Amino acid sequence: MWAGRFAKALDSKADDFNSSIRFDCKMYRHDITGSIAHAQMLAKQGIISAEDCEKITDGLAGILDDIDNGKLEFDMSCEDVHMFVEAELTKRIGDAGKRLHTERSRNDQVALDIRMYLRDRTQEIIELLKILVADIADKAEENKAVIVPGYTHLQRAQPITFGHHIMAYAMMLLRDISRLEDAVRRMNYSPIGCCALAGTTYNTDRRFEADALGFDGLMLNSIDGVSDRDFCLELMSAYSIIMMHLSRFSEEIILWSSWEFKFVELDDSYTTGSSIMPQKKNSDMAELVRGKTGRVYGNLLALLTTLKGLPLAYNKDMQEDKEAIFDSIETVQMCLEIFAPMIRTMKVKADNMYRAAQEGFINATDLADYLTKKGMPFRAAYKIVGQIVAECIDKKCVLDNLPLDAYKAHSDMFEADLFEEISLETCVNKRISEGGTSVSSVEKQIAYVREELKK
Ligand code: ARG
Repeated sequence: MWAGRFAKALDSKADDFNSSIRFDCKMYRHDITGSIAHAQMLAKQGIISAEDCEKITDGLAGILDDIDNGKLEFDMSCEDVHMFVEAELTKRIGDAGKRLHTERSRNDQVALDIRMYLRDRTQEIIELLKILVADIADKAEENKAVIVPGYTHLQRAQPITFGHHIMAYAMMLLRDISRLEDAVRRMNYSPIGCCALAGTTYNTDRRFEADALGFDGLMLNSIDGVSDRDFCLELMSAYSIIMMHLSRFSEEIILWSSWEFKFVELDDSYTTGSSIMPQKKNSDMAELVRGKTGRVYGNLLALLTTLKGLPLAYNKDMQEDKEAIFDSIETVQMCLEIFAPMIRTMKVKADNMYRAAQEGFINATDLADYLTKKGMPFRAAYKIVGQIVAECIDKKCVLDNLPLDAYKAHSDMFEADLFEEISLETCVNKRISEGGTSVSSVEKQIAYVREELKK
């Protein structure tokens, strides 16, 4: 391509080192779509002839078709996808092909391609997130009255419903969707026409190209237009947060699947056995989702580090953006595709959850509230209930079967109605505060989430 300036060819190892076609070939569709809009703009502005424009657009459409249909393979000796498409076009249509790169640089071209590619891929991730959120809402609906211990510090804390617990993840993932939408909104400005870095002397129409390619506006500083990879970082941090959510959920599923908890059982199709221990059923999918979170974080850190010392404008270091972000997208996509059916087919062991909720004094707060509602200051009630819990531990009983006499020895405010007040069902269903754990509140959460998914 630059033979004019150079006396010899690139060393073959250096050539491999420099080349990005093996990964940026993924953007071929966006590269070709961008080039078609570019040719049309050049023709409209009288920079190339209508005849050349027609040859270019037909030629590019043919290349796209041929790649789609497997008739054309990428030539790995080309430096990148942009060079490949241009060389192939020139091979097919001759000199007109050499006019396509007028008033354009690979610097604005690659910035354009990644934006368009990420816009599409992010939409796919959003669709997968929506499926997962809908599946969680369905699971929550089935289990909206299933009582389970809620934990803090992984110690049994207060009774909640399983539906309520998993709806927490639905809320997190909804925010993830909106984070991705925000990032795409900020990213959707066209860099094409920024050229190498300084803009162009041609009578260009950047807005025409931006409109044709579905952008909301233009990058308004040409140096920024070719130097900016903030959008990659924003998306990668949104992907990292998604993975962090999936990883926390995975961790709980792994715990719940253990013999220690026995709260859920994953379907055979999402678990594996052991090569030596015949009894084993391992939650490998959930473990892998948890494990893959590391590489998505790593990709974000890698690109942040790559960019931090770069002078303006384009530097070849920036070619490192693609493998990092492509890997993050592919990882998130795989994880979401596995996660949704794993949740859908997961069996909830309501009896075991209930049994666990009966131990651990998780209705102690409600017992303190019982006294408080009768007029005792909360701190005083808290102390008495602490003493009662200690007594129960001593007598190896629970609050529900300690006799009324024993209660009265601590306070004469206790009456027989306390047992009804501290039943697990009451504890759960009296928590009707907005966002609380009662069945009616969980129903509202489910309805809200389903409404959001329609938007
Ligand atoms: N393959 C390059 C990249 O991904 C395309 C831009 C090359 N620009 C240049 N001036 N060498 O960043």
